[in-house]
Amino acid sequence: MRTTMDPETKAARASLTDGFGREHTDMRISLTDKCNFRCVYCMREDQRFNLTRLELDTPELVRVARIAHNLGIRTIRLTGGEPLMRKDAIDVVRQLSTIGFDDISMTTNGSLLTRKVGGITAAQALREAGLNRLNISCDSLQPDKFAKIRRRGDFDVVMAGIAEAHRVGFSPIKMNTVVIRGQNEDEILDFANYVRESWEAGTPISVRFIEFMPLGETGEKQENWTKDKVVRSADIVKMIGDQWPLKISSSQKDHAPASRWAFQDGKGEIGVIPTMTNPFCANCNRLRITGDGFVMRCLFSRKDSKYALRNLMRRDGGCTDEEIAQAFLAAVASKRAGQDRDTPDIFENPGKYVGGSQAVHQVSMSQIGG
Ligand code: GTP
Ligand code: 5AD
Ligand code: SF4
Repeated sequence: MRTTMDPETKAARASLTDGFGREHTDMRISLTDKCNFRCVYCMREDQRFNLTRLELDTPELVRVARIAHNLGIRTIRLTGGEPLMRKDAIDVVRQLSTIGFDDISMTTNGSLLTRKVGGITAAQALREAGLNRLNISCDSLQPDKFAKIRRRGDFDVVMAGIAEAHRVGFSPIKMNTVVIRGQNEDEILDFANYVRESWEAGTPISVRFIEFMPLGETGEKQENWTKDKVVRSADIVKMIGDQWPLKISSSQKDHAPASRWAFQDGKGEIGVIPTMTNPFCANCNRLRITGDGFVMRCLFSRKDSKYALRNLMRRDGGCTDEEIAQAFLAAVASKRAGQDRDTPDIFENPGKYVGGSQAVHQVSMSQIGG
């Protein structure tokens, strides 16, 4: 393997700035597209996954992360599929934590956090390996509804995972809740109350209500996703605020997709992620690596062979670090101002695309990594 980085690449540090002046400092790495759940908003019940040999192996992944760090990436979020389905996920965290990132976080479905790894729980092993933050997905507080939305997995196991994550020191924990009209929008106030109780109990959880997006299987077939299933973030804030007054949170971050709202009485905060009604593209600082090693410039992109890092690294003779850096630079340079799709009015005019071949996005969330 050739690993030289020439002076020009070093000079390119902090040059992950796109044509719209957005500097890219955050990278999301999907550790695998495999998942033990089959959430209705994410994938088909009979979803097929990549062969393990098509995923970046750990040395490849760490190499790519190191190069990204040299180019100015400061924070990493590990995603999936379910990232803990990858057998060496904890070792990946341990190795990434030696590179010098400011923050390493993970988005998980929470089902594997209590599993024992070398005598301790996965949550504790992640903490000891250097993981700073955990976001856990949970779309219902009612076990039967949870099972319906996620198709597999057990509500109690996820709750035990959240408790274990708190026990080993992850705090606060963010909970990701995709809101789908007709499925779980009747639980919005229950979730808000759950947040308040968690803060009172000293085990704070911030629920972030996410607008349902037409991605991958949910988008391609237009069966699951329809405009009327999207519950607007503004309506969620209003509904909760009418019950328990809210104010804009002082912890609001510039580059986060979530708008954060704090309860005026101090009992915690919630977030809304208006992916459909108010995308955060103008502040986007994100690059993505898919489970099978493609650089993605946007959540809504298709895989592009120009940015296939796995092929680059595995071709005869390998590739230089410079070539990998160039793929990153080219992906950033090619970013669009808004979401990377040819159907920009899909939310306002989705009927036009029903059944259409160019309908939305072929790549599912589990491959892109959320
Ligand atoms: P924090 O650093 O904790 O704020 O994490 P995060 O919100 O970036 O991470 P998480 O993986 O929990 O993302 C939450 C949700 O935000 C995802 O599931 C997506 O629905 C949405 N999201 C994340 N990144 C993007 C993006 O680049 N574009 C859009 N449209 N939505 C995104
Ligand atoms: N729309 C919105 N959010 C989604 N997620 C997965 N699919 C979708 C979708 N179609 C979220 C999950 C998880 C994160 C990685 O992505 O809830 O929290
Ligand atoms: Fe798995 Fe997450 Fe997709 Fe659900 S949303 S099927 S937990 S990758």
